[in-house]
Amino acid sequence: MDHGRVRRADGAAVTDPPGRERVFVTRSLPDAWLAPLRDAGLEVEAAASDAAMPGPELRARAAGASALLVQLDDHVDADVLDAAGPALRVVATFSVGTDHLDLEACRARGVAVVHTPDVLTDATADQAWALLLAVARRLREGRALIAGGDWDGWSPTRLLGTDLGGRTLAIVGLGRIGTAVAARARAFGMEVAYHGPRPHPERAEPLAARFEPDLDALLEAADVVSLHAPLTAATHHLLDARRLALLPPHAIVVNVGRGALVDERALVAALTAGRLGGAALDVFEDEPRVPAELLGLANVEVAPHQGSATTGTRAAMAALCTRGILEALGR
Ligand code: DGY
Repeated sequence: MDHGRVRRADGAAVTDPPGRERVFVTRSLPDAWLAPLRDAGLEVEAAASDAAMPGPELRARAAGASALLVQLDDHVDADVLDAAGPALRVVATFSVGTDHLDLEACRARGVAVVHTPDVLTDATADQAWALLLAVARRLREGRALIAGGDWDGWSPTRLLGTDLGGRTLAIVGLGRIGTAVAARARAFGMEVAYHGPRPHPERAEPLAARFEPDLDALLEAADVVSLHAPLTAATHHLLDARRLALLPPHAIVVNVGRGALVDERALVAALTAGRLGGAALDVFEDEPRVPAELLGLANVEVAPHQGSATTGTRAAMAALCTRGILEALGR
């Protein structure tokens, strides 16, 4: 293996001593999160910036690395893997989603993939519920009323929201996060129905969740639909214009998964035409771009992909990434 010259984050060229393996981290991360790598004697090169790394820079800086620690907006394809070269043994992504990684290309090159399931389940489910409740209870309009100085006191008829108890939550994808969102729904007195490639009785039965094999039928019966399928070619635009039209006009769409699960243009069209009850969105098709129309709608709550953004969850995600890298490198 060629331990040739690499470039540190500060731009200085250094020569790794033979046998010293390098981890390239595509984003500036807290030192404490990366400490396990350094403590194990690895050379850790982290980007100086918190911004997404352009593809050419990622390819250049990955060269010669034994491990990459990437973010969900780093596209790790065959070109990146080839640019990294034969030293590369593991790609760890700071996310549960792996849609930005070419898993087949990793497999073909014997590169292990590490992601961060489980530890972000509760934080992400909480975020879905935070956004859903904000839409159902019109929190944004209430805040605007106060901030605008227009609140003139108690009113029995102002800002009436939607009761969720007794309504049906349709979950698309009863995986970890879908199940956690459903469990919270039961605590709010909602009925749960779900769709996916197959039933999951072990998850569904404790929640009295009903499997609906027909996605269209699930949507027709939904008061709220929450999307938790992984983003793949098969689930891209799963909620397209035709399926959005199946939802009852009062239905609220929740998405804390991946933006492209929904045809965003069709969603904007349905919302602006008043054909939907609202939308609670943590993710978007072309992040960080958010359609301006969404921002003007009172029944739409948006967040900048914050599902896993709690202090404890992000530290736990970092720990999974570093542990996975160390295991893959045999440390
Ligand atoms: C993930 O981990 O895939 C999430 O989208 C991050 O919040």
